[in-house]
Amino acid sequence: MYKILKAEKLADKIYLMDVEAPRVAKHCEPGQFVIVKMDEKGERIPLTICDYDREAGTITIVFQEIGASTMKMSKMIAGDYFRDFIGPLGRPSDFVEEDLETLKNKKMLFVAGGVGAAPVYPQVKWLKEHGVEVDVIVGSKTKDMLILEKKMNEVAGNYYPCTDDGTYGHAGMVTTKIEKLVEEGNKYDVCIAIGPMIMMKFTCLLTKKLEIPTIVSMNPIMVDGTGMCGACRVIVGGEVKFACVDGPEFDGHLVDFDNAMKRQQMYRTEEGRAILKVQE
Ligand code: FES
Repeated sequence: MYKILKAEKLADKIYLMDVEAPRVAKHCEPGQFVIVKMDEKGERIPLTICDYDREAGTITIVFQEIGASTMKMSKMIAGDYFRDFIGPLGRPSDFVEEDLETLKNKKMLFVAGGVGAAPVYPQVKWLKEHGVEVDVIVGSKTKDMLILEKKMNEVAGNYYPCTDDGTYGHAGMVTTKIEKLVEEGNKYDVCIAIGPMIMMKFTCLLTKKLEIPTIVSMNPIMVDGTGMCGACRVIVGGEVKFACVDGPEFDGHLVDFDNAMKRQQMYRTEEGRAILKVQE
């Protein structure tokens, strides 16, 4: 049993929880995820790790209420327990294995959309802790939907918030901010984009044109996170990969986003049915 130490609402339908999970906290690296189960019969929910404290033995997760299970999870409070909290799963971000001196000479750009700020945060934090400063763009629909702003600001070299409605920061999509930064003379060696599929698709179309190698995280299409359900099949460079075991990070210029989005849509329908059941 894994105790929830803190439960907080960050924005509309977006929640943060600190969970006591010492073994996961001891071994996890940026880019990895966990699977949580609320009770014995509960659905397995894959969630990216937003933060970890090895000494305190805690993991921070951030999730969006998008289906029946996450709706139920959003009602859990500090003092409640998860039945299972499995991890760390998936492969850590590639840079964890890279030579630090090479990393320090790279100019890296992180692009997060919406709740994608959660998996981006531990990566930026890890880099900062290892002496690497990076630029971070975080986009959301409105100012109220921007999450983890203070934390991100503390670890990013340069932090650029963007809002679609122009209520805060750069007015417009993250892609227009990328274009602006490049026009201003920034030369990026790599871009890491995490967020809604459509955001990652358009970021990749742009970075391909700008010739910036780009890594994306295909977390959004995972269902059971074990390599068994097949829901996270994604075509990368013409080959079929599973996001949960081969990823979640892939070369964004090789990902077939249209196919992945179609697959995501299919599961949304099933999720819709499950929500109806919970509400009955
Ligand atoms: Fe089910 Fe990857 S999420 S196989």
